[in-house]
Amino acid sequence: MVNMAGSCRKCLILVGLFILSVFVFYKCTKTAPAAPNIEATWWGSGEPQKEDETIRPFKIAITPGVLLDLQRRLNNTLPFQEPLEGVNQNYGMNTKLLQKIIDYWKTKYDWSKRQQFLNQFPQFRTRIQGLNIHFIHVKPKEVPDGVEIVPILLLHGWPGSVREFYEIIPILTTPEKGRDFVFEVIVPSLPGYGFSDGAVRPGMNPAQMAQIFNALMTRLGFNRYYAQGGDWGSGISQNLAVLYPDRIIGVHRNWCSANELFHWKSYVGSIFPSLFFTEKEIDKVTPITRTVQFILLESGYFHLQASKPDTIGVALRDSPAGLAAYILEKFTTWTNRDWKDLPDGGLTKKFTYDQLLDNVMIYWITKSITTSVRLYAEAISQAYTNHQFNNIPVEVPAGCNRFSNELIYSAETLLKEVNKNLIHLTDYEGGHFAAFEVPEVLGKDIIEFVRKVRNLSQIPNKEL
Ligand SMILES: *[C@@H]1O[C@H](CO)[C@@H](O)[C@H](O)[C@H]1NC(C)=O
Repeated sequence: MVNMAGSCRKCLILVGLFILSVFVFYKCTKTAPAAPNIEATWWGSGEPQKEDETIRPFKIAITPGVLLDLQRRLNNTLPFQEPLEGVNQNYGMNTKLLQKIIDYWKTKYDWSKRQQFLNQFPQFRTRIQGLNIHFIHVKPKEVPDGVEIVPILLLHGWPGSVREFYEIIPILTTPEKGRDFVFEVIVPSLPGYGFSDGAVRPGMNPAQMAQIFNALMTRLGFNRYYAQGGDWGSGISQNLAVLYPDRIIGVHRNWCSANELFHWKSYVGSIFPSLFFTEKEIDKVTPITRTVQFILLESGYFHLQASKPDTIGVALRDSPAGLAAYILEKFTTWTNRDWKDLPDGGLTKKFTYDQLLDNVMIYWITKSITTSVRLYAEAISQAYTNHQFNNIPVEVPAGCNRFSNELIYSAETLLKEVNKNLIHLTDYEGGHFAAFEVPEVLGKDIIEFVRKVRNLSQIPNKEL
């Protein structure tokens, strides 16, 4: 017996060593995937055709009928199911809170004022590959001599919209004493979101969106530009940096996810944290099982949208109350996970109902919820995942923010595996919708990042 146990221990050690050497061999010989070539695809109906490429001014102007219909639907919403006692937002959007928001929407939310607000910046649409692409384009005013204008593309995600950037636009486009650059901002609606058309056939994934936005920047006359984003905007920015390294001067993201849930370092690091994580990171990244549990609790929407986007789309397109519940729930939990335990979901700590309903209205009046959630299906399709964007190194200067309430916190070691030139990594208080929630913080950080990139190498004006 004793002997058998002894030899068994030996063979376990041998098996362990064998697995380890296979793993090391695999890690050493595996080469990173190369950036794919994304062809310009026709996304409109019918055959590709020559189209009007002019850039047309655009204003939001809905017909009175749309507002009347909205009022009627809000009036006719069936009484909500009473929430369970004391659950706050733990069963999803609490209907007592939802009722308060719907009442505000019906009686206080003044669309004529909000429409004016939403139209405060110059907006345009232009046709790209069969789709009308909508964007805000703000040039800085009163730029002093010697101050360089640098273009930056700001990309939103789901369930956001261009509305997230309204507070940050003035911060970026206003010259500041002592700073030798100022931004010209381009803020597009993603295809299928808000005032941009959705594709009529499958395949509009983040890389295809990147291809379209690069074409947009070309049309606007920008050779080189910065890209910034959170949520899908972060993924699309990363794709831009990978696909067009000669065009992207730097990529700044307020969520650089780094494959945490599937990375071996997350798991080995849970047992031996000091191998991979800094002192300050350990609390936030270990144990990985805590993150996995949180993501499972919060990612049902993802699976639903990735697998049955059109089914959920029917309900959300038909009911403004349902749409508001579905979207605004994310603005509680993703801004602060602890707000699930608050009766008011914490919403007004960081946002006003006007701000939040502006964003809901953009989905409602454009009837874009179904086309928006299809992005999840495209992003998990093989056509996209085969490219393995997560593993393609980003060579352009990269900046990442880690907001304290972001869905997943990323350790520096993981971020550096793909971001080969991570020149800027900062930690802040705040959540998932950083541009919307803390525009001053994010604005300052973008400026700081760009300052660092410019210090790396002064980019002559003519190249921009
Ligand atoms: C909705 O209800 C309000 C208050 O009862 C009423 O004033 C308004 O006319 C109704 N609107 C529509 C379109 O039914």
